[in-house]
Amino acid sequence: MRQHVNPLSSNFNEIEKVPPLIEMFGEPKFNLHLDIGCASGEFLFDLALVNTSWNYLGIEIREKLVNTAKLKVREQEIKNLYFVFGNANNILNDIDSQFIIKNVKSISFNFPDPWFKKRHYKRRVIQPEFINILSGSLQKGSLIFIKTDVKDLFDYMDCTIKSNFNFKTIDKKDFNFAGSFNPNKVKTNREKHVIINQLKIFEKIYTKI
Ligand SMILES: C[S@@+](CC[C@H](N)C(=O)[O-])C[C@H]1O[C@@H](n2cnc3c(N)ncnc32)[C@H](O)[C@@H]1O
Repeated sequence: MRQHVNPLSSNFNEIEKVPPLIEMFGEPKFNLHLDIGCASGEFLFDLALVNTSWNYLGIEIREKLVNTAKLKVREQEIKNLYFVFGNANNILNDIDSQFIIKNVKSISFNFPDPWFKKRHYKRRVIQPEFINILSGSLQKGSLIFIKTDVKDLFDYMDCTIKSNFNFKTIDKKDFNFAGSFNPNKVKTNREKHVIINQLKIFEKIYTKI
């Protein structure tokens, strides 16, 4: 399967309409977590099946992975998990999807595609304009989690988020994981691979102030 998709391709200009919370989830008032670049969604399945009083939403640009994940949700009749196909930047920039940003308690960017060449930085999912959109609509106290094994990408994401003065870093030592979207510190597929290969993980948590 092709691993890297160019998110700036015109194929992704047309976006999937995100249904209202009541159509996505059995209990639309539960806390909502958004995972951007969720791949096949295994991380979210692990979370949703255990933390049944949270809702989980995954956005992924590889359509086949989303279709398979959607089918699995239907087959297993999971009511607190939903997947949307497309470029997360286009989807969340759309006026009709703003309600997602307004309702999420937390967002994770787990091991985003690094796009190593400088001329490809524009393809990275975290962009200043995107962080401005998040900062404009996220509720105070909402959280952003970033995680990667690529130091250069980490510095880039950290610098982009910190340049927006509406976000403050939270020290991981002081963070109450038990009350978060991931109380059992479930690992993503990429994270498991990185751990097996003894690579370093760079991560940070930010809160909207
Ligand atoms: C390296 S994988 C990491 C997958 C997973 N988060 C993990 O930690 O195992 C990055 C994922 O982000 C997806 N992706 C990249 N850019 C995206 C975008 N703009 N919108 C949505 N998904 C994106 C890729 O297709 C890929 O599945």
